[in-house]
Amino acid sequence: MSSQLPPAPSGYPVLKNAVQFARDPFTFVERATSECGDIYRMALPAVDDVFVFTHPDHLDRILVSDVEAFGKTEDYQRAFGNGLLSVEGQKWRQQRDMLQPLFYRDHIRGYTEQMVACTERRLETWIEGETLDMEPEMKNLTLEVLFSTLFGRSLVPGEDQELRDAADGLNEWFTPSSWILPPWIPTPARRRFNQSTKRLRQEVRRLLEEGNDRTRISGDEASGSKDQSNSKQAAHSNTPDLLTQLQKARNRADETDLTIEEIEDQLITMVFAGHETTAAALAFTWYALATNPDLQEQLHTELDTVLDGDSPTYDDLQNLEFTERIISEALRLYPPVHTIPRRALTDVEVGGYRIPEDHEIHLSIIHIHRDGRFYDEPLAFRPERWTDEFEEELHDFAYAPFGGGRRTCIGREFALLEAKVVLATVGQKFQFDWENDEAIELEPRVTTRSKEGIPLRIRQR
Ligand code: HEM
Repeated sequence: MSSQLPPAPSGYPVLKNAVQFARDPFTFVERATSECGDIYRMALPAVDDVFVFTHPDHLDRILVSDVEAFGKTEDYQRAFGNGLLSVEGQKWRQQRDMLQPLFYRDHIRGYTEQMVACTERRLETWIEGETLDMEPEMKNLTLEVLFSTLFGRSLVPGEDQELRDAADGLNEWFTPSSWILPPWIPTPARRRFNQSTKRLRQEVRRLLEEGNDRTRISGDEASGSKDQSNSKQAAHSNTPDLLTQLQKARNRADETDLTIEEIEDQLITMVFAGHETTAAALAFTWYALATNPDLQEQLHTELDTVLDGDSPTYDDLQNLEFTERIISEALRLYPPVHTIPRRALTDVEVGGYRIPEDHEIHLSIIHIHRDGRFYDEPLAFRPERWTDEFEEELHDFAYAPFGGGRRTCIGREFALLEAKVVLATVGQKFQFDWENDEAIELEPRVTTRSKEGIPLRIRQR
């Protein structure tokens, strides 16, 4: 095995690369790659060096062919306990097997109507000509969808602010300034994260209790008595929600038996992983369309032709080819998960360099998605590039917005359906204008964000 560590980009003498990274992580990554190539080392003063990989072959190696040599980082375990995102080994296998059927396409399609209803409800709050920041707006919407579908609980626009703030606060664990400090330092961001998880645990406990009541109520209804008190309970489709499934798993006395804490961990994980990511994808999509009016017009033409003014059904959505390409391109140019972290479980050699045991590595998805070796005009928003032939020829791991290998995103189908529903429902009624001279500047939190938000003027069509 090679004893050579990957090169580190030049940095300030004492604080090494930390200052540059914390100030502007994306520019740092760009500069580091042009100085060092596809693998480099970030030298940090207070924590171990971090290794960054920027070629699709590395994703293949780390997520698939040599997957046993890499694990999840401790950060995720500390933040999300035994939730699916962080748990490892046999326990992860059991949880994934238990939850996977809930995320199959055939199951997810049953949520279409609820997704449309949530979107239409939010659109009722929009005012002609107002400027809305699409980042918080889409976050509110995707949280409403998540609660209505997977949790079976309505979140009404304009209400439940404390709960929305708590969902938002889950990101605080992963602010760039926290990445470069040891985990035991109680930064203000980490304190906010702890308050948020506490609040969400309370909510989840309440929902679980309500779920038990609901089960009891439906038993009572069957025996004649009616209860109309639970006004916040979402209108149910025939598709069972995640909460009910988890409750069932808790009551089963087999190897998937879950503790109450594990159910809470699971639901908090879904709030964290399942709303801000899709919200980012949607907000960037609206930005891309507002700054490319011809593409926005093409979207409108497709929606008007296929839907003819009606709310979209699942079958309609299958005919929205251009809409689908817009989503693929937005996930390429603005991948909500810009980096996938892992930990080397043993000393490994990658690309001729040694990665020491127990060190953190990052797979830079955004860098790969914007690499001219795989995409012509990589910084241009070009949905039309997503032809079947292009996809066939593309390196398997040059497009990985949902990760890859066995830990690939369980919510992929859910997110893609939701994105299409929202694009179709909103695009039929509204159009967007970008009124600033400057383009947005990206900023990495745990998801990709715009530094100044995404304020768009909305106009009725
Ligand atoms: C556009 C939206 C989304 C994007 C870009 C996205 C991206 C990702 C990525 C890159 C991973 C892999 C992380 C890793 O390997 O460390 C992942 C995992 C995961 N995602 Fe998503 N995700 C999205 C939506 C969702 C939704 C809607 C849900 C749930 C409702 C969800 C739940 C999860 C969970 C639970 C995992 C962990 C899976 C496991 O380790 O077995 N995601 N996601």
